[in-house]
Amino acid sequence: MLLERYLESLGAHAIAEALDLDAPRPALIRPTQDAKFGDFQINGAMPLAKELRKPPRELAQPIAAALTGIDAIERAEVAGPGFVNIHLSPAWVAERLTDALRDRDRDGVPAVEDVSKVIVDFSSPNIAKQMHVGHLRSTIIGDAIARILSFLGDDVVRDNHIGDWGTQFGLLIVGMREWGDEAALQADPIKELERVYKLASKRAGGEEDFAQRARDELAKLQASDPENLELWKHFVQVSRGSLDAVYAELDVSFDLWLGESAYHEALPGIVEDLLGKGIAREDEGAVCIFWSETDDAPKSLRKQKTPFIVRKKDGAFLYSTTDIATVQHRKRQLHADRALYVVDNRQSLHFKQLFAVMRLLDVDMELEHIGFGTVLGKDGKPLRTRDASGGVITLASLLEEAKERARQRIEEGIAEGRLRVLPEEIGEVARVVGIGAVKYADLRQNRLSDYQFDWDKMISFQGNAGPYLQYAYARCASIFAKGGLEMDAIAESASIRLDAPAEQTLGKHLLRFGDVVYQAGATSQPHLICEHIYELARAFNGFYAECPVLDADEPTRASRLGLTALSARQIRRGLGLVGIGVVDRM
Ligand code: ARG
Repeated sequence: MLLERYLESLGAHAIAEALDLDAPRPALIRPTQDAKFGDFQINGAMPLAKELRKPPRELAQPIAAALTGIDAIERAEVAGPGFVNIHLSPAWVAERLTDALRDRDRDGVPAVEDVSKVIVDFSSPNIAKQMHVGHLRSTIIGDAIARILSFLGDDVVRDNHIGDWGTQFGLLIVGMREWGDEAALQADPIKELERVYKLASKRAGGEEDFAQRARDELAKLQASDPENLELWKHFVQVSRGSLDAVYAELDVSFDLWLGESAYHEALPGIVEDLLGKGIAREDEGAVCIFWSETDDAPKSLRKQKTPFIVRKKDGAFLYSTTDIATVQHRKRQLHADRALYVVDNRQSLHFKQLFAVMRLLDVDMELEHIGFGTVLGKDGKPLRTRDASGGVITLASLLEEAKERARQRIEEGIAEGRLRVLPEEIGEVARVVGIGAVKYADLRQNRLSDYQFDWDKMISFQGNAGPYLQYAYARCASIFAKGGLEMDAIAESASIRLDAPAEQTLGKHLLRFGDVVYQAGATSQPHLICEHIYELARAFNGFYAECPVLDADEPTRASRLGLTALSARQIRRGLGLVGIGVVDRM
């Protein structure tokens, strides 16, 4: 059930009926600021005042009257300058919740009617370099978005557009011949590649001879020289191994790994096409798109002085060229309707330009940059993951630390009698809690803002943190365990009724889930789901504090068990949609 959508349509029809109009008008439904004024507010009378030449309060009166007889609505009243406050009928809400309880596949959330094929381009680290925290954000946010859209019914393709081609490989080839250590490469490939890359780029900076050798090797690689291709493949393969380990830990998967290298053969053709269509022109040997010369350039780019370069003077292609080829491929071969690029805000100019070029090329696809802010350290500066000796902390070791810290918190909780985890389950619970905490700390933020990385707030069983929500789920599950009951059996048989105020508060919150998931999907904002789940956990705790469940008499007992089951499932589903797991006992 999509509550807001349903009420919007009720409101729109009530307006037409009440004011004798020939078509429904927008009801402009909004949740009220304060529950004491009702649950939702209809603002649709206000904009009609001018057209109908009547004061809004006078229009609101018959609208409220028209809404009054409807099942879903207990009462509707005019308020303020002319809006209508509506109070939902608890009995009607309870029936909708019972429907949701029965619907174990979707928890009452309908699938989309028009399915789109959506590419989610996320994670996309550059191999031969340590994945940094920005790539961790992209991985976590992109995975959440892909999960949400898949659940809503879209045809989602997860693509890891890794940086596996480009000038760094010339340097790596000469560098590895010079300083490479195969054993180190096998043991920790990215570390070794990074070490050699740094040495090579330093030497190339001071020694023209060496720099030229690197360029020659790169040219050979790009011309498919077998030996260099072998070397390059080897670098890519070993790096894939360490990336895969991080993805497995994060429970993130991809449908495609079409990195930059996948498109290199298409690049000369892209440049020819842009030149042929007069979109790009040569400038001092390079091929560029000058926005100031482009008539149909978007407004925001007209004043952009630096051009979008698609081929350098030395003939090399760029990130921009590859991205153009990538969109073409996604359109022509994958028949995608949309592509979402989950990439750091700092690349927003790149994507603005890329999308403008695609419009100039008449590629009909919805392209969207899903940007995000920076992770900050406790000092408020961009987080540098370095250990005490100044070495880089790898993402793998960051995740290890998360698990270790979670284990400590769990052991404390057990010692203090707050948590109940069997000794043989501690490892698994620490994994789910530790990884979940890192993900939740990121996902609960509006992705566009920067946020501070803080272990203590992150791994907390109290505030707005992953462990708190996982604990709320386990608490629901424990009610069933204590009663010797199966959640699924209750879901089949229980009828929900909402009598006590705490039941009504919880029930109305539960009914918003569908709207929240739709909104999170439409705006690529996983934090909306986190917010909902956090509020839900609080509403559940309020309910649980006031309403006995197992000790209540029938039919209240079955109803409360039903509410508990639906709350548990919604927490589990909501966390699952953002890639966070739960455990039944803790
Ligand atoms: N490899 C790039 C980076 O690390 C991100 C790639 C994002 N995807 C894309 N199609 N440009 O900055």
